[in-house]
Amino acid sequence: MTSHDPMRHPAGRVLLEVRDISKRFTGALALDRVSLQVRAGEVHVLLGENGAGKSTLVKVLGGVHSPDRGEILVGGTPATIRSPRQARQHGIAVIHQELTLVPRLSVAENLFLGRVPRRLGMVDRRRMLREAVPLLDRVGLDVDPAAPVDSLGIAQQQMVEIARALDEDATVLVLDEPTSALTGTETDRLLEIMADLRSQQVGLVFITHHLDEIQRVADRITVLRDGRGAGVLPGDASIDEMVRTMVGRDIDDQFPRHRTTMGEPLLRVSGLTRKGVFSDIDFEVRAGEVVGISGLVGSGRTEVVRAVFGADPYDSGTVEVAGRVVRGGDISAAMRAGIGLVPEDRKGQGLVLNSSVGENMGLVTLRAATSGGLVDRGGQARRAAEMARRLRVKHSDAGQAIRELSGGNQQKVAIGKWLLADPKVLMLDEPTRGIDVGAKVEIYELINALTDSGHAVLLVSSELPEVIGMSDRILVMAHGRITGELSTDGVTQEQVMALAVAAREEEDLAS
Ligand SMILES: Nc1ncnc2c1ncn2[C@@H]1O[C@H](COP(=O)(O)OP(=O)(O)OP(=O)(O)O)[C@@H](O)[C@H]1O
Ligand SMILES: [Mg+2]
Repeated sequence: MTSHDPMRHPAGRVLLEVRDISKRFTGALALDRVSLQVRAGEVHVLLGENGAGKSTLVKVLGGVHSPDRGEILVGGTPATIRSPRQARQHGIAVIHQELTLVPRLSVAENLFLGRVPRRLGMVDRRRMLREAVPLLDRVGLDVDPAAPVDSLGIAQQQMVEIARALDEDATVLVLDEPTSALTGTETDRLLEIMADLRSQQVGLVFITHHLDEIQRVADRITVLRDGRGAGVLPGDASIDEMVRTMVGRDIDDQFPRHRTTMGEPLLRVSGLTRKGVFSDIDFEVRAGEVVGISGLVGSGRTEVVRAVFGADPYDSGTVEVAGRVVRGGDISAAMRAGIGLVPEDRKGQGLVLNSSVGENMGLVTLRAATSGGLVDRGGQARRAAEMARRLRVKHSDAGQAIRELSGGNQQKVAIGKWLLADPKVLMLDEPTRGIDVGAKVEIYELINALTDSGHAVLLVSSELPEVIGMSDRILVMAHGRITGELSTDGVTQEQVMALAVAAREEEDLAS
């Protein structure tokens, strides 16, 4: 499915209408008289910068937040939605931006949470496992339904969340950034499922920061800016038009990478092997260089950077920074050597959610400063505030808890704290996930600044335009091995993908 003809799916009656909804949190008016209309058989995109109010509106529809004022109509009748259960009774199913899975429970238990099949009062485990299979098949997820859900990667967990919502047979399905953790193939599949639901006259509300996805599926686009409605665009609006309406200005260069003269290798990884996970990983990143790592989900990219950072052990091989061997399996040793990692899972590993923006920004720098015996708290607070301003982190003040920030703004803090720490080698695992187009450019500029000052950057990303646009060289991984290297000069997305997939097929044949 590449494009669709809106005339083939004439939008039907109004299923859901939101009129003049406002919602204030202490410190911020998140929604200011916002209206939205969802028709049967349409994909209605909600577009806006990080912190514009998209998720707040979704939470109002899903019964998580009550609005301060305004009206919600379901099928033309005024409705109150005070709980997720009430939302479901009105036929509204929601996939929230932050996953709501219960970590230690199995995949199947998560799929049937709150509606577990019972027999004679007991949980019917066999039936549950059996009934999980077609739900997982529908989203193309090949995992053991009995596996603990937190043993899956982020992308797979996202697919479980989607499978659960699809099973609710909703009349309105709301998807808050479901594709931010997915790669191309999985995204294609989800967009196909969405098109299918549209043809069955479901009304869909879809949020994404990937503007190309909007062009593929949108029938209408409601744009939010600072909590207010900024206009409704037709589904075939141009990317420039979308950007202008949401950001208020044009963005000329999406990937502003400028090359720097390269120096000596700063990071050298040789023969790194962790049995059953990755093997014989050899590469180096030079001072001033950005090396990208591409590959399918499960190819071992995340596992390699975690091992280099000392977060996971390895069985053999070495990691060197500026010619010195770094002790394995020891995060403190890696950090002292000058290695930093922005992890793929900001909630689990990157941030302390109950702490403030200021504290999170200072986490790494403070540790470094304290070990040197000096703590320059004033200077640190000033630098943190400056970083927050550059990345346009939308927050009330440095004391605001991270938990209260929008998803994209949390991600900016996860990156900002490492940029402040100024490590010699910075590894970024899916850094711009959930970040709006304007803030992305700001992050890329900061990557440029790092390499300008002679640092090395390793960029793991599933977004092909990003790896191609921002790296000087790309390593492709498949099945725990580096299977190819490409120069980014004139390389196409298809060439990178072909290498990732072909390598995998060869491996499959060999194994
Ligand atoms: N529980 C809360 N307490 C205080 N402020 C909040 C809370 N939840 C959201 N906000 C604020 O409301 C505003 C809108 O946040 P929201 O999560 O709706 O943004 P968003 O458009 O979904 O952004 P993103 O693209 O980053 O996900 C932000 O300024 C955010 O800090
Ligand atoms: Mg959001």
